[in-house]
Amino acid sequence: MPKILIAPSILAADFSRLAEEIHKVEAAGADWIHCDIMDGHFVDNISFGPTVVGFVRKQTNLPLDVHLMIEHADHYVPRFVDAGANSITVHVEAEAKHDVGKTLQQIRDAGCRVGLTLNPDTGFELLEPFLDQIDMLLVMTVHPGFGGQSFRAEQMEKVKRAADWNKSRDRKSASRTDSSRGEIDIEVDGGINPETARVSIENGANVLVAGTSIFRAPDYAKAIRELREISG
Ligand code: DX5
Ligand code: ZN
Repeated sequence: MPKILIAPSILAADFSRLAEEIHKVEAAGADWIHCDIMDGHFVDNISFGPTVVGFVRKQTNLPLDVHLMIEHADHYVPRFVDAGANSITVHVEAEAKHDVGKTLQQIRDAGCRVGLTLNPDTGFELLEPFLDQIDMLLVMTVHPGFGGQSFRAEQMEKVKRAADWNKSRDRKSASRTDSSRGEIDIEVDGGINPETARVSIENGANVLVAGTSIFRAPDYAKAIRELREISG
């Protein structure tokens, strides 16, 4: 089993003490920092942009996992690259208003890890044409836009399909920058706590995004340990 990676979502952090919060989750054992970018159009909420990602970059050497819930991601990718993103994940839905294949190549050409994601109501078929182009698939386990929502267990079907795809396909795609395991990472995001983390890992996920269950916990190290524990 690959190492389970924990990516705290700073959307749930106390922004009045953001630097301290980042140092605390890093010391608590976080593997990545998940940055939720919302534009008020693709999703019904507004969060933060490249300037804040740049600030986060200065606080930590952990990989920055940037999740773009925005329209026209292709227009903004260069700004998140300049801000210090290590991986950039874009949405596959038409409502995201970009040429998915071109944007994935743009992220690759910028030297970042390439992520693709789909909403709970979007079929797995929509992203199949792009699976050979990505390093990571993010399966949304809530409808994007807000933290603190409940986990949607039916999305595990997509996690299973991605895990099967990993097992079945020849992974020799030369375009990948970092796939030492020859597989794509399978990330889940939304309503992740120790119970739903266990369900996600059992179905094949290896990267867990968590906001509320970490930043609302009295002890971040214990919260992260409990998410990872089930992986043994
Ligand atoms: C929602 C975001 C998630 C969210 C997770 O659109 O993509 O990353 O912040 O928060 P919790 O863990 O509280 O569901
Ligand atoms: Zn997210």
